[in-house]
Order: sequence, then structure tokens, then C-alpha cells
Amino acid sequence: MNLKDLYIDFFVSKGHKQIPSAPVVPENDPSVLFNTAGMQPLIPYLMGQHHPYGTRLVDYQKCIRTNDLDSIGDKTHHTFFEMLGNWSLGDYFKEESINYSFEFLTKVLNIPINKIAVTVFNGEDGIPKDIESANIWQSLGINKIAYLGKEDNFWIAGESGPCGPDTEIFYFRSDDEVPEIFDPKDDRWVEIWNNVFMQYYKDSNGIKELPKKNVDTGMGYERVTAILEGVNDNYLSSVWLDIIKKIESLSKYSYEENPESIRIIADHIRTAVFILGDEAGIKPSNTDQGYILRRLIRRAIRHAKKLEIESNDWEVIIANMVIDKYKKYYSELTKNKDVILEELTKEKNKFNKTLEKGLREFEKIIANVDKILNKDLAFKLYDTYGFPIELTEELAKEKNIKVDIDGFKEKFKIHQELSRTASSGKFKGGLAGDSDKEIKYHTATHLLNAALKIVVGKDVHQKGSNITSERMRFDFSCDHKLSDEEKQKVEDLVNFWINKKIDVNVQKMPKEEALKSGAECMFIEKYPEIVTVYSIGDVSKELCGGPHVKNTGELSKFKIIKEEASSAGIRRIKAILE
Ligand code: SER
Repeated sequence: MNLKDLYIDFFVSKGHKQIPSAPVVPENDPSVLFNTAGMQPLIPYLMGQHHPYGTRLVDYQKCIRTNDLDSIGDKTHHTFFEMLGNWSLGDYFKEESINYSFEFLTKVLNIPINKIAVTVFNGEDGIPKDIESANIWQSLGINKIAYLGKEDNFWIAGESGPCGPDTEIFYFRSDDEVPEIFDPKDDRWVEIWNNVFMQYYKDSNGIKELPKKNVDTGMGYERVTAILEGVNDNYLSSVWLDIIKKIESLSKYSYEENPESIRIIADHIRTAVFILGDEAGIKPSNTDQGYILRRLIRRAIRHAKKLEIESNDWEVIIANMVIDKYKKYYSELTKNKDVILEELTKEKNKFNKTLEKGLREFEKIIANVDKILNKDLAFKLYDTYGFPIELTEELAKEKNIKVDIDGFKEKFKIHQELSRTASSGKFKGGLAGDSDKEIKYHTATHLLNAALKIVVGKDVHQKGSNITSERMRFDFSCDHKLSDEEKQKVEDLVNFWINKKIDVNVQKMPKEEALKSGAECMFIEKYPEIVTVYSIGDVSKELCGGPHVKNTGELSKFKIIKEEASSAGIRRIKAILE
């Protein structure tokens, strides 16, 4: 039986309700492009919001991590992976959590006790040593316990959020005799499960107790499957083997000859299938999730070329295998199968048109480069041949040459601004009616943000926004439901500014200067050194890529149609321009 089924069945038998995997693109968290851990979609509930399925939950969650793309190609890294997780939302705590993990590992997976070791939080920064967890492990007969500090045994996703000490469970992956003393640095011990005892919430003001104590656990499906099957290359476990064999058969090279390229193709196509199959409707593009998707597909194409794969529909063959393998667990893959296959092929054809020429151009360029490939040449490869900068970097690295990435980014930014100006010019000519409306909503978003700060309070901050030609949606931090009076005031204020016909000005300036001048922004680290600041008279000043209307008078009447909770501490307004 598959590990996923065993896991779900076990926790259901312990009173947990299975919840479906959330989409790979977070619905309410604009601070990350993809869900990177099983707990991410559950953050509002870990912070106290009532979950409709109750207080004991279990799931497998689609996760995507693209921060170390360079590691893909080795035996253990994947851009997409599944995380098995069980949660207690103010229900059980350490005792049951550890007992459940122990029972699942030793009774369901039949792992011998002497191959299990654990780490426990040693206490740091005023947070006490987790003696309770250690005692529970000992009572179960686990004596290989190491005590580690915050770096290893305190879990938090990023800088702020729900967090707490954790106990990590390790498995001895080796035929050697198991050492008496557990050394977590000995790489024959691999971490298989992480039980986080989430009892705190951390933000810039410090750390405080959560209203309820939760348990958040995470187990990497790919890794544990490989361990259970006794292979030390994840790509040789049942999760991957048939896909690897298929790529090998399409390729001129065997897995032994070029495991990296075969793994990269398998990994990247699988991730592309899950991104394209997700309900968020992401397509290859040059921004955000769409750009990651494009990079993954283009990198896979380049490695298919390296392997001299000649099949005309290799991407469809592999994608179909992925869909067949996972459709039992993710029905969206069947539902979106046509889109997945079409988009993959479309992107392949698009890139194939320029790849060959681009590679020839690259060879020509590189022959004359000494140590560093300059920004103009890197930009030419991007602009003319569709080479994502990371691909150019990878190709150059194979020749021991560096790329002027900072210079490239600067050039890229200027290019983006130019095309944006060009396209907003086009909008003015009335060629793109819908987008005209979107530009208006964009400006209305800034006005709404400013009005909320005046009516509700200075602490209101934008947490997300989404615009279509039909409406705008705006998420903001706020600890209460807006009263009718507040909503009315906000609406009136925005309409007042619209009627006042205020000019919208745009200015470029260094990021530091913009912040000093009090400009609003959502995620400062996301912006380049030189930023664009849009000001609407004295009403609003925000870092923003635009485009915006020239004068607020261009907007019609602003109307709030809904105000609701989005997640804990975050409200959502839907509004229209009538
Ligand atoms: N949040 C923890 C992790 O990602 C446990 O789920 O490891």
C-alpha cells in the first residue's frame, strides 16, 4: 500500500479528518509564490480561527520549493514534493503527538526501534528546554536523543507567524551497525518527520503565547518512500522509477551516464504538470509563478536536447505518466489534462524555435568572453532567444564563466518599464478596453488603501490585491469587521478624491529614499534598488509598478460590494467602479 494511504488511514483511525490538499498557489498569502510546507494553508487555523473540519486534521499537501534549483539533479532534491501532515488545533499536544508518530513508524511501517533517534529542543532565548518531549520518547523506549538549539529545533516559516519547539525524528539509513550514541551530524541518520509544538506567535514585537496550543507535523513523502524501499537515490524509488526508465529509453544516454539531466527532466516536468494542473490557472509567462513555470519547462527542454531526445512529443509522454500516477490523489490533473498538455507543448514549440540559434549564438559569444559575460549579451540571449537568465547562467557555469546578473537585472527593469509605458500608451488610444478598466481599478486600489488608513487606522496595511476588469479585491490587516459606518466613510472618501480630480504622478528614485519619504509598500525586499513611486496628490504615495490613470477624475463612482474575513487578522473588500 502507498505511504500516503497508510498515513491517512492511520490518522483517520485516530479521530482525524482528512482535508484536501490546498492549491500550490496560496490563496491568501501574497508573500510567497507557492506553498512550501503543509502547514502554510493552515496558518489562520493555527492562529485560532475555527476550522470547519474540526480540531484533528490530516492531509497530503502539494508543495513547491524553487529556492535551490541548482541542487536539482542530485539524488534527493525535488522542486515539487508532497508533505504528509497531521495537526491538532488546540486538541492533543506532545503526549499524543509523539505516541502517534511512534506507533505509525513502529507498528504500521514496522521500523525497528533501534533505527530511530530523535532531536529535542535544548532551550534558548528564555524558551525552556523541552524535557517533556524527551521524557515521552524515553518512556517509549527511544534513548537516542540529542538536544539542539533554536537553529535546529525551533520551527517557524520565515520571519513571523505561529512557531514553537519541535522534535525531529531520524532514521538510520545504512547497513552499518547502528551506533550506540546518536550523532545528528552523522549523515547516515536522515530526518523523516518533524513534530512542531506550536505554542507561540512571533512578529516584530517579539514572541507571545498563542491562545491554543497546536501540533503541526510534516513528513516528506518522497524521502520516506525511498527509505522504506531501501534505495538511497530518491529517483530510484517507486515514486519515480518508471518515469526515469521512460526518459532513459527516449534518450541517447543511460541513467548511469547522465543521471543529472534525466532527473532534471523528470523533476521539472512533474512540477510543471502540477503548476499547470492547479486551479490557480498559471500559464508560462515572464512574471511571478508563470516565470518559474517557464524556467522549469525551458530548463527541461534544454536537458532533453543534451540527452539528444528525438521524440517529438517527449514532454507529452512524460506529463501523461505523471498525470496517470497522481490522478487518484489529485483529481484536478484529470480535469485540467488538456490544458497541461497543450501549454507544455506550446511552450516547448515556442522555445525550440529559438533554442538552437540561441545556443549557437551563446557559443559564439562565449568564445570571446574572458571571465564575465556582460549584461548586454545576457540580455540579448533573453530578449532575442528567450533564454531565462538562470539558463544563461547555467550554460556559462559549465564553461567556468560568470554572468553580470546585477547588470542584467538593471537592463531588464528598464526594458520592462519601456514596454509598460508603450502598452499604457496603447490603452489610451482605446485599443484595449478591458485593460483600461483594470488600470482604473489599480488607481482605485491606492485610494482605498489611503482611505482605510484614515477611517480605520494607521495600522491598516495592504496584504494582497487582485484586479479583473469586473471588480477589485483588496486584502488588508485589520482586527475587526468593518461597521456600516466605516464602510460608508471609506466609500465617501474615495469618491471625494475621485471628484476632486487629483493628478497622479510617477517618479523613479532609490528604494531607501522612497521609504524615507514615507511611501507605502507591501514587501520591500521584492523591489529593486531603483523603484517607481506613484503619488496621488497628498492622498497617497506607494511603491508600485503601475500603470495608473493620469487623474483620479478618470474613475467613475466607487462602491464597496462586500467586506468579509479573508484569514485571521485579514479582511477583504470587494469593490467596483460603477
Ligand atoms: N512545518 C513543519 C515543517 O515544514 C512541520 O510540518 O517541517
